[in-house]
Amino acid sequence: MYILAPSLLGADFRKLEDEIRTVEQAGAGYLHLDVMDGVFVPSISFGMPVIAALRRCSGLTFDVHMMVEEPIRYVRDVREAGADLICVHAEACRHLDSTLEEIRRSGARVGVALNPATPISAVDLVLPRVDMVLVMTVNPGFGGQRLIPYTVEKVRGLRERIRELGLSTDIQVDGGVTPDNTEELLAAGANVVVAGSAVFRGEAGKNVKEFLDIFRAFQERAGER
Ligand code: DX5
Ligand code: ZN
Repeated sequence: MYILAPSLLGADFRKLEDEIRTVEQAGAGYLHLDVMDGVFVPSISFGMPVIAALRRCSGLTFDVHMMVEEPIRYVRDVREAGADLICVHAEACRHLDSTLEEIRRSGARVGVALNPATPISAVDLVLPRVDMVLVMTVNPGFGGQRLIPYTVEKVRGLRERIRELGLSTDIQVDGGVTPDNTEELLAAGANVVVAGSAVFRGEAGKNVKEFLDIFRAFQERAGER
């Protein structure tokens, strides 16, 4: 199953409720929420109060991408604010295993993220314990960047490894994803696609549908093979 996760960072912050409603009605599956602390990444975005407010106006799966040092400190609060899935960076956790365990205990689904230059071996041992691996396709911190081409091979390698282990872990890609490179990412093995500027720049509803059409066409072709 292929899921589109519009990244709120790309939305117009003056009208978040409308933006979310538009992508929800157009068929997006997740809402990707980027929490940044100004330490793990240079920028600062938004945190728990914003997530909690949006939770009251949306039924979408809240996929919270924590670009935060030692996110274990915030797992409970983010979950209480309304996260359905909490994704932490392997690079930001001194105790990755405990952090993933804390997410599981909170009742949220568990995700682990990798920066572009972090090899997939960094999460090999925890693969059986996570629901999703986020392969960053840009350096985290800002929307609107260009996808780094070598990350596509990383997705392919990770999908192979997941298959080898007999798992069905989701692979999410985030950063610089556009309708032009989506098919390549799906073919490499990604199944959860984050898009910020490609969704919210222009007509969000129409853009969501364009991504969903690409997913559908890819799935149909895969069925024929
Ligand atoms: C970047 C964030 C992304 C960002 C993606 O650090 O993790 O989720 O919003 O934005 P685009 O799709 O514009 O690259
Ligand atoms: Zn993100």
